Order: sequence, then structure tokens, then C-alpha cells
Amino acid sequence: MTVLLYGRPPAVFDPPGDATQTSPLIPESAALEAQAPGSADAVMIYAPPGVLERRYVLALALRALKAGGRLDVMAPKDKGGSRLGKELKAFGVEVAETAKAHHRRCVVIRPRTADGLDAAIQAAIQAGGPQIVPGLEAWSQPGVFAWDRIDPGTALLADHLPPMKGEGVDLGCGYGALATVVLRSPEVTKLKLVDLDRRAIQAARRNIEDARAKVWWSDARTLEARGDKDFVVSNPPFHDGGAEDRRLGQAFVRKAAELLKKGGTAWIVANRHLPYEAELDAAFTRVRLVADAGGYKLFEAVK
Ligand SMILES: C[S@@+](CC[C@H](N)C(=O)[O-])C[C@H]1O[C@@H](n2cnc3c(N)ncnc32)[C@H](O)[C@@H]1O
Repeated sequence: MTVLLYGRPPAVFDPPGDATQTSPLIPESAALEAQAPGSADAVMIYAPPGVLERRYVLALALRALKAGGRLDVMAPKDKGGSRLGKELKAFGVEVAETAKAHHRRCVVIRPRTADGLDAAIQAAIQAGGPQIVPGLEAWSQPGVFAWDRIDPGTALLADHLPPMKGEGVDLGCGYGALATVVLRSPEVTKLKLVDLDRRAIQAARRNIEDARAKVWWSDARTLEARGDKDFVVSNPPFHDGGAEDRRLGQAFVRKAAELLKKGGTAWIVANRHLPYEAELDAAFTRVRLVADAGGYKLFEAVK
């Protein structure tokens, strides 16, 4: 019996304990993309909030299911839940919809065929899959942070960043926008790119063809740190599972300090409203506010 799980549904939905996890945000998990068509008996999905991303996941799940297999999807009402039923019906399948614990839940029994099902699956996979974004001329994918644009915080950091030297880390690298700028300096000898999102990691691997760069699918918070790096660059995340979580960014600040050797420098950009100063002051010897513009602040912090 093949049972797949995507994400972490609240316990009230009884997520199967023995299922294969397929979320791109959980390092080491399997990929829904890699499941053989018609191979799964059941799939439970805690649906992501972005429309293209959500339809992509639903399409992959419908493709992976065998005829008669059960798709069980839920999402918070205000984060896509209210559109879930309509989105599933657009695949041409019948949907049983209920409400529970501020979520909408939709169950579909995968038909052998349905009008337009295969074409709808194909279209959603194409729209939500890896793609070269016009204007960025880089690989990216819906669901990845700022997937089809340059984030203004990243742009502020890139505009002020002097040429880096030696070995460094890009903590929360996304599809590699910042790393591309860092690697323009010929004095950078190594750059480790780290992100929690497999889609970002795959895009970064395609975007950065540079022997000095290594791309890691990992949680930055648990990254091994030997205190031997010359620099860290980061536009830290401040959302975890859709909710603002300042502790995540603060953990990035601490990890940046752990990674650096004495005298090493961290360049960290953040939304103005985020309280990173106390964390920076505690972990570094010198902290300088380099820029404060467009709702973002940029710090240079020396260990
Ligand atoms: C604000 S974005 C910056 C992305 C990229 N550096 C850029 O400038 O476009 C933060 C990144 O951190 C990643 N992230 C979130 N939580 C993480 C964690 N615990 N460990 C590693 N990366 C994480 C997100 O997937 C996202 O790509």
C-alpha cells in the first residue's frame, strides 16, 4: 500500500503516520514529481497557499494516484481553502467538500479517466513547474521565495555588497539571486548555498554553474558550523509555514555568527520592522547599519 503525504496537516485531520513525506520544505523527503503515474493508493496534502503552486501539487497527486485511489486535501479557509473545491473540479473530477477546524477539506476518488483530466494535469504541472523566468533569465518555480522577481531586500543587499573574499555561505539562498552577485568577485574561493526548499535548491543548481559553489538542501538552523568562514550573506526568512516567525530570522543571525571565523563579516538584510538588532549585538563584535531604504535595513556585522 503506497500512501503519500505532502506537508504537515494538523493532527485533527489524522495524517497517516506511515506515509512517505513528499514536501519540498522537508529535507530528505521524497519528491511528488518522482512518483510513478498511477502508483499511489492514497495521497494526503496540506495544500500550500500559492495558487500555481497548489494546482501543481494537486496535479502531481492526481497523476501519482491509481484509479480508485483517494486524494485528501485540506487548507486553511483564508489560505486557499475556500478555492480548493473549485480548483479540484477544474480537473474534471468529483469532489466531496467539508469544513473542519477553520479548514476546507476535499476528498476525490481518482477516476480511471475523466473529461479533460490528463490535459488539465499536464497544464497545471507545466504552469507550476521549474521554468526560466523572463526578465530574470533564471530558473525558478512558483512557491520559491519571490520566485519571479528580485526581492527589494535582496536588491538592497546586492547594491551595497563590496566584493567578498575567501570562503562564504549564503544562508537561505533561494534560487540563487544573491549568490550570483557574490560569485562575481574573483577573490571568492568557495560559496556554500543553503536552503530548506528543494525547489529553490534545484533552481540554484541550474542557475549557478560555478565550480566554487556548492548547493545544500538543509535547514540552516541545524547546519554544522566550524567557525571557519570569511563571510556570510543572508536575506533571512521570517515566515515559517505561512505565519510570521521572528525567531527564524534571529536563528539565522546566530548561525551566521557561528559559521564565521573571528573578524569574519556577515551581510544581513531585513524588513525594517524585524527586531534583529539585539541578536546582532549579542553575537557580533561590531554592527553597522549600512543602509535603511524602501522598508529594508542592511547590516554589516563583524565577528
Ligand atoms: C527571504 S528569502 C531569500 C532568498 C534569496 N536569498 C533571495 O535573496 O532571493 C529566505 C530563504 O530562506 C529559505 N528558508 C526558510 N527557512 C529556512 C531554513 N530553516 N533553513 C534554510 N533556509 C530556509 C526560504 O526557502 C527562502 O528561500
